[in-house]
Amino acid sequence: MTQGEPDMIAMDMTDKITLITGAGGGIGGGIADVFAKAGATVYVADLDVNDAKAKADQIRQEGGQACAAGLDITSKTDIQALVGRIVEEKGAIDHLINCAGISINKPYMESSDDEFRKILDVNLIGVHNCCQTVLTQMIPRKSGKIVNILSASSRMGSDFFSHYSSSKFGLMGLTQSIGLAVARHNINVNGICPGIIVTKLGEKQGGSLVQQMCRYSGKPEEVHLESLRKSIPLRRFQSGEDIGHMALFLCSELSSNITCQAFNVCGGMRMN
Ligand SMILES: NC(=O)c1ccc[n+]([C@@H]2O[C@H](COP(=O)([O-])OP(=O)(O)OC[C@H]3O[C@@H](n4cnc5c(N)ncnc54)[C@H](O)[C@@H]3O)[C@@H](O)[C@H]2O)c1
Repeated sequence: MTQGEPDMIAMDMTDKITLITGAGGGIGGGIADVFAKAGATVYVADLDVNDAKAKADQIRQEGGQACAAGLDITSKTDIQALVGRIVEEKGAIDHLINCAGISINKPYMESSDDEFRKILDVNLIGVHNCCQTVLTQMIPRKSGKIVNILSASSRMGSDFFSHYSSSKFGLMGLTQSIGLAVARHNINVNGICPGIIVTKLGEKQGGSLVQQMCRYSGKPEEVHLESLRKSIPLRRFQSGEDIGHMALFLCSELSSNITCQAFNVCGGMRMN
């Protein structure tokens, strides 16, 4: 190996502290599993503190290191308190993975102003709250990695989730902008665009994508699931772990020269 060439051992996250928002959910939970297996201490943060505790318990039972935290990313006070707690307990946060998000699935002409505000508040302003707060402790150390979970809907609009798509397009701009703002501090900021993963996304906001498709079409769930699966060239839905593997790469030294980018993990569904 030549001098300066990254060693594969860099994927080992022993002694690293990883904060994952929305880690009580499907994708965030999968990312938490991957980071814990790589040796990181994972802070599992979620609005639903019971889901956060269940995920942290599962990781610890499997031999990993995890702590649970209740967190509402729309509250800057909440995120400041959590960052303060982690710095007190562990000294620093090495990785921030912004995965918390919500979705509302219904046609644009039925979407209300309040729904638009709510979704932008969580999916866009909430991520800004987390990034700005965590960066206050990353910048002085001149070290840190941020990964934002975007979407295939960050690259293509949709009648059926116009507010969601708008928030995720915005998050793409925020990811690039923060990346530019902190590049001189040796901090990398990137995004991942997952394709389709069957989770509880949207359920608390009136119905998941598939549930709402069924409501509007009257067709059974299996029909919609199958047509979604067939829209993926690799013919399988993604998993939380698929997204976790890309996040692990983006938090490793193997990607030290990559910032302000977004990567599709979608089985070939998007190519831009
Ligand atoms: N499921 C998919 O097909 C898909 C595709 C592309 C992108 N995504 C994105 O992946 C991320 C995770 O989604 P998921 O599919 O795992 O959904 P999920 O509903 O299983 O998980 C989302 C988690 O975020 C938490 N959350 C919601 N509001 C919060 C808040 N204000 N503060 C803190 N936590 C909050 C929820 O409690 C939940 O546990 C989201 O940002 C979503 O937009 C999902």
